[in-house]
Amino acid sequence: MVADAFTLCLCWGMGRARHRLPAAIKEHKALSTSPPNGSLACVGIGITLGSHITPLARSHIQTAEVVFAVVSDGIVELWLKEMHADVRSLQPLYAEGKRRTQTYREMVEAILAEVRAGRRVCAVFYGHPGVFAWAPHRAIKLAREEGYRAHMEPGISSEDCLYADLGIDPGSVGCQHFDTTQFMLYRRTVDPSAWLILWQVGLAGEHTGHRFATGAAQRRVLLDVLARDYPPDHEAIVYRAAMLPVQAPRMERLPLSRLPEIDLNGADTLAIPPARALQPDDEVLARLAALDQAVPA
Ligand SMILES: C[S@@+](CC[C@H](N)C(=O)[O-])C[C@H]1O[C@@H](n2cnc3c(N)ncnc32)[C@H](O)[C@@H]1O
Repeated sequence: MVADAFTLCLCWGMGRARHRLPAAIKEHKALSTSPPNGSLACVGIGITLGSHITPLARSHIQTAEVVFAVVSDGIVELWLKEMHADVRSLQPLYAEGKRRTQTYREMVEAILAEVRAGRRVCAVFYGHPGVFAWAPHRAIKLAREEGYRAHMEPGISSEDCLYADLGIDPGSVGCQHFDTTQFMLYRRTVDPSAWLILWQVGLAGEHTGHRFATGAAQRRVLLDVLARDYPPDHEAIVYRAAMLPVQAPRMERLPLSRLPEIDLNGADTLAIPPARALQPDDEVLARLAALDQAVPA
């Protein structure tokens, strides 16, 4: 930057070079607006180890100078280390009793420190890096605000696996997705004629920000919230996609009333099928029919 300003001053002082001034200014502008050296790619590697990664995500990992990893398993970290010599796990930032928001902020800071140091950084997340994940969105936003190149590469999310394993087409009757605790804490308008997918159900009612699991008492509160729209014997599915190629997905069907007593972990998602049929809107149908009569197809 200092050298560019210097070049500009030289041109300004030299009569012979005065006609070159616009070009010099143009060049200076181009140099000063070109992004600084560091860059960030947040990539997803899917859910099932080894088989979900896209060629683009692999390429970002292999060509980065530094790779950060927030993945589901130590085995996944070992697999990443075969692709790159400098893989730094951000998993140790989690700690018992520490607020999750603090952990996420530290993740973002660790990633951005390397971007600011001018490095080509790849941050690897399991699943899709933009789905129910705060840190990748935040890191990209901050990096861009500071003038660095930053983007997200999508990955296969647990949502994608859910559609495949449970045979759900979200377009057939619609599909609503909520974080379980947010669903409990706020009054949401549920449409029981569509699917309801509750994420982080193993953390149902966790509003303190520093616990990694909750239990039967919190799930009983969840049941009461669900009871506004679903009967207690309504069947739900606890779903966990296979994370290793040797595993089978968990697809456990049970009445909602049994939720408090079952084992759930951080990777479980609750899928609740529609409890009633789609309700036709006769008024809209009549208006559309009138339009069809007025304008011949
Ligand atoms: C912090 S979110 C991360 C989601 C991740 N970004 C994705 O694309 O799937 C964690 C939640 O995702 C869901 N999830 C993660 N892994 C899963 C799996 N193997 N099977 C089903 N749901 C999963 C669960 O609801 C879990 O509580």
